[in-house]
Amino acid sequence: MGSGIGIGLLGLGTVGGGVASILQSPSERHPLVADLKLVRVAVRDLNRPRSVELPNEILTTDPAVVVNDPAVDVVVEVIGGIEPARSLILQAIAAGKSVVTANKAVIARHGEEIADAATKAGVYVLIEAAVGGGIPIIEPLKQSLGGNRINRVSGIINGTTNYILTRMAEEGAAYESVLKDAQELGYAEADPAADVDGLDAADKIAILANLAFGGSVERSAVPTAGISQLQGRDVDYAKQLGYGVKLLAVAERMKPSGEPLPLSLRVQPTLVPNDHPLAGVNGVNNAILVEGDPIGRVMFYGPGAGAGPTASAVVADILNIAGISQATQGDDRLDPLLAASSWRRCVLVDRGEIRQRHYVRFHTQDAPGVIGRIGGCFGDGGVSIQSIVQFNASKAGAEIVVITHEVSQKKMDDALQSIQALPEVSGLAAHLGCL
Ligand code: NDP
Ligand code: HSE
Repeated sequence: MGSGIGIGLLGLGTVGGGVASILQSPSERHPLVADLKLVRVAVRDLNRPRSVELPNEILTTDPAVVVNDPAVDVVVEVIGGIEPARSLILQAIAAGKSVVTANKAVIARHGEEIADAATKAGVYVLIEAAVGGGIPIIEPLKQSLGGNRINRVSGIINGTTNYILTRMAEEGAAYESVLKDAQELGYAEADPAADVDGLDAADKIAILANLAFGGSVERSAVPTAGISQLQGRDVDYAKQLGYGVKLLAVAERMKPSGEPLPLSLRVQPTLVPNDHPLAGVNGVNNAILVEGDPIGRVMFYGPGAGAGPTASAVVADILNIAGISQATQGDDRLDPLLAASSWRRCVLVDRGEIRQRHYVRFHTQDAPGVIGRIGGCFGDGGVSIQSIVQFNASKAGAEIVVITHEVSQKKMDDALQSIQALPEVSGLAAHLGCL
């Protein structure tokens, strides 16, 4: 690879479009992004309207042209499905090119074949986007958590079904129309049965199990149930009992050790107690709980599908490959992503310019017009109030709690000064930040 790194994109749909748009606007990202050059892109239909504008000459309907272009150093496969994706990945590896893919279907079924070919060819196949959309979970399992004995990996790992379940529970929305919205938002697979029947989550838990426990599992043996058979009345009953219903994927070890190591994997709609960390994971968000020794339990949370989040994970993988390639170009080069080096100067703004929401509690007299005068001081100072409530009113006084909208510290300080000067206000009892 020269100083620029040639990227060949197979697919320019939801994810491919998101990747191209990051590569087209490197400003304010890691400086290595500017070294990534999109040189070839394969699509099925040259006339389809695109979310990104690319020069016509780099587009082709022949994916082999992308894989074999000598200017392409890294092949990014975001076509989806099993074939031709599998063959194209293997061809890229055979041509000595590292591959980045978001394709969990192909990795869950042919991951071992692909990994063996990559090891023999001395190239990387990175798959961060294949599980959890934008959530970094693959690299943490491979690297940051490597000192642990992992006992269990569980979570919500399909954005489409979580989006559907959330909207059905919160709005009583109809299944078919919410599924259509998920498709329009780019969350669903080309055949959404993969989402609603739990197959996509099963692909992902098979991949996570492989990374967590060190060996591949038979994908077709993962017991799988989706949400298409889920009855609304069961969701209602669960709610009355203090539970939400989530499509949960679980992989756990059944014995401390063993060869082969016995594992239990499953995907099914599952009642989650309202106070469980997974209960608040709503919409397209995913969350993965990893339980290990000695770390205990860590949760990874974030958007599990969609163009931007998935492209974020794809580009992270491309950068990893670019970083390694730069590090191996010269004896004294360090991987720019691993080395703790700055690339520009940063400076803190004055405290008065910090913007946030505020929670304040005043001790006041319980007298007519106090709330109005406090509100007036905030309004005169340009501080917008989200809520103002009086508590514990008695002859001895009252407590007035105010939550503001986002405002600069300077405006907040000035308003508080004028409020504390009011004769009815005996003091500022608490001042906290508010998210
Ligand atoms: P899309 O259907 O939106 O895009 C697929 C792209 O591949 C299209 O641009 C299509 O071309 C192109 N394509 C399909 N077949 C061929 C072919 N034979 N030759 C050349 N180009 C072809 O899919 P997504 O972007 O949503 O998904 C891509 C991959 O990423 C899948 O593996 C998916 O599981 C995975 N993924 C998706 C996420 C998401 O949120 N969407 C999240 C995480 C992973 P054309 O546009 O001309 O039809
Ligand atoms: N269809 C998948 C989902 C895309 O909804 O989670 C992200 O892998």
